[in-house]
Amino acid sequence: MICSVFVVTNSTAQQITDYPIIPYPSYLKPGKGSFIINEHTQINADNIFEREVSFLKELLRNASGYSIKETKLQAKGTINLQQDNNLSNEEGYYLSIKPETILITAKTNTGIYRALQTIRQLLPYNVETNNTTKKAISLPTLEIQDEPVYHWRGMHLDVSRHFFSIDYLKKFMDVMALYKMNKLHLHLTDDQGWRIEIKKYPKLTEEGAWRTFNNQDSACMKLAKENPDMAIDTMHIIHKNGKTLYGGFYKQEQIKELVAYATSRHIDIIPEIDMPGHMMAAIYAYPNLSCEGGSQWGALFSTPICPCKESTFAFAEDVFNEIFELFPSEYVHLGADEVDRKTWMNAQACKELMEKEGLKSPEDLQSYFVKRMEKFFHSKGKKLIGWDEILEGGVSKTAYVMYWQSWVPEAPVKAAKSGNYVIMTPGNPLYFDYPPDIHSLKNIYSFNVVPAALNANEAKFIMGAQANIWTEYIPSEKRADFMYMPRMTALAERLWSKQLDYTSYRGRLIKHYPRLDALKINYRQPDLTGFTQQNVFTDKAILQVQKELPTLNVRYTLDGSIPAATSPVLPGRYTITKPLTIKMAAFNEQGVRGEIYTIQYRKETFAKPVVVQTNKEGLKTSYYKKYFKSATLLDGQDPDSIFVSKDFIVPSSITAPSFGLQYEGYIQIPETGIYSFYLTCDDGGILYIGDKEVVNNDGLHSAIQKTGQVALQKGQYPLRLAFIEGGGGFKLELKYGKGNTEAQDIPGRWLRN
Ligand code: ACM
Repeated sequence: MICSVFVVTNSTAQQITDYPIIPYPSYLKPGKGSFIINEHTQINADNIFEREVSFLKELLRNASGYSIKETKLQAKGTINLQQDNNLSNEEGYYLSIKPETILITAKTNTGIYRALQTIRQLLPYNVETNNTTKKAISLPTLEIQDEPVYHWRGMHLDVSRHFFSIDYLKKFMDVMALYKMNKLHLHLTDDQGWRIEIKKYPKLTEEGAWRTFNNQDSACMKLAKENPDMAIDTMHIIHKNGKTLYGGFYKQEQIKELVAYATSRHIDIIPEIDMPGHMMAAIYAYPNLSCEGGSQWGALFSTPICPCKESTFAFAEDVFNEIFELFPSEYVHLGADEVDRKTWMNAQACKELMEKEGLKSPEDLQSYFVKRMEKFFHSKGKKLIGWDEILEGGVSKTAYVMYWQSWVPEAPVKAAKSGNYVIMTPGNPLYFDYPPDIHSLKNIYSFNVVPAALNANEAKFIMGAQANIWTEYIPSEKRADFMYMPRMTALAERLWSKQLDYTSYRGRLIKHYPRLDALKINYRQPDLTGFTQQNVFTDKAILQVQKELPTLNVRYTLDGSIPAATSPVLPGRYTITKPLTIKMAAFNEQGVRGEIYTIQYRKETFAKPVVVQTNKEGLKTSYYKKYFKSATLLDGQDPDSIFVSKDFIVPSSITAPSFGLQYEGYIQIPETGIYSFYLTCDDGGILYIGDKEVVNNDGLHSAIQKTGQVALQKGQYPLRLAFIEGGGGFKLELKYGKGNTEAQDIPGRWLRN
């Protein structure tokens, strides 16, 4: 009955429609017929699965309205939950749905719980709301054998920069559980606020949990004028002693409740108390924590705590003692990222410590701090995780490395090769505070969890991956929902499934939106397509917006105002005959508005081609090994080298962290028409064709796409593309389409110099 090996099969169209499960199971064999849940259905479970039985009963009551009873008989119409110690994976399970019975087996409670999430996704989405109408419902017959590929399937949330309520964290974990995610990393402290009660140091929260509005709050307030989700959640604003303060913290009793909630969903909460840097809120409350007393902002980071005073270790150990008591997780995060270590070098205490311990550099001091803290963690039975900066200055073999610095690709490779376990959270594509766009889901889905430079043995040190949500510019629960959903579903499938098929995933995802609506998640709606941001026309243009989710209503305005649920619905074919700016947005059936698109139409005459005497393929490419803030600054600079490119990919030979590239030459346009150009870059880029700026995607930013159009007659036109890399992304892609056709590669033979 139980398959001993997992068989990897390709998903069929039928499976997409009938079994919209995310993450997709390792093995799924469709059956014929269905199991009916009605007043005769009973549950027969091994005693150890008492909690899971309660969850299943609630699920089935919500789905059918019936209160399902328990039995000890293996009768027809029963759902059987049995332990099977032969299953090797702690989260694995077997599920067989036949017309007569359902059988779920697993080695652990976690495995059964994961199986119940699969059943939940097979049930109609009204299971997500409390349903009292009695109605028989059916589950499709099938056989599933399932287990995750990666052990660490994490989500991180920064509750310091902006604060999130206990209720929101519970809702967040409910969604994680639905998609079989298993680690919640809470970034509990930072410069902008200390968010957890520590009994021995009450001022950490009395003073460190509150602030007057900062620059990031002001930026959010400004953005809120266009997008209400950017408004700061008012429940975290108080008025005290004539001051308006933002903040909040979790009491230890609330943390206990939260941990219990996580445990019942088979999620581990990994607490992070970030030190020695990012400690301004704590130093504000206890100034002696830093070497010279107090903390201020340096060029990039705040003054850290002092690793050279015994009193610092006494404080750190006291804090972690309380943290260890509250969180059962075997892993605890020390942070240790982005430390302004230079500030230590002037302190007498550090001079003495360096002399005594034979330490030579600020990196050595940081390594001393982390290693000493790790010994303390071990003495309490805990494993230490740190951001990948802990590799600098030397790291112990037993520390767990959380990789984030995308611009140091060798870091996870070095760590895994030297036997350190690694959790992958590279900024691109796993920083979910970067705004999502049309490419995000695919980028996450196709992300290489294991760096290519590792062999199979070394790859075992990659525990999995995690998405991080830093909240400087995420001031509300609604905005947080928008930033992580549905991106988390792509990560969930990437980390769990053996069968990866992006088209199938997108087909299944479409079926999840009504469930997410029922759960009141303010997810980012699927993109509207079929247009560019800057459009040109010569006599008239037709706007035909495509929507992946048919139930969305696209509404628009022409007066610059934000579309509301009462704005007119955009016709399927909308004719434009004069220059205008359209603002449009999709509204779901609940009237929730999605992204606001601003698209402009400019009337132009066709540009005139130039006559040139060159036929050499490719574009002259100038390389500037320097840091630039804007792509407009490349012109007139002396290049470090010049070469010819036949595409717009950053050559792999360029490894400088910051640089500029300028492509110059001609583009051969094969036939007259309106051409769209799609420029994706991290950081900035500007495309000029003829005498026009066609796409402006300038500035220092993560990979985003900007689009523009130009009316071109058949012939050759001067082309210039200026690109800058400020550090980190290395992404440059230029595609074209005729009219609004899908973006495609620019043929190399079109490019001349
Ligand atoms: C980080 O983003 N500073 C870990």
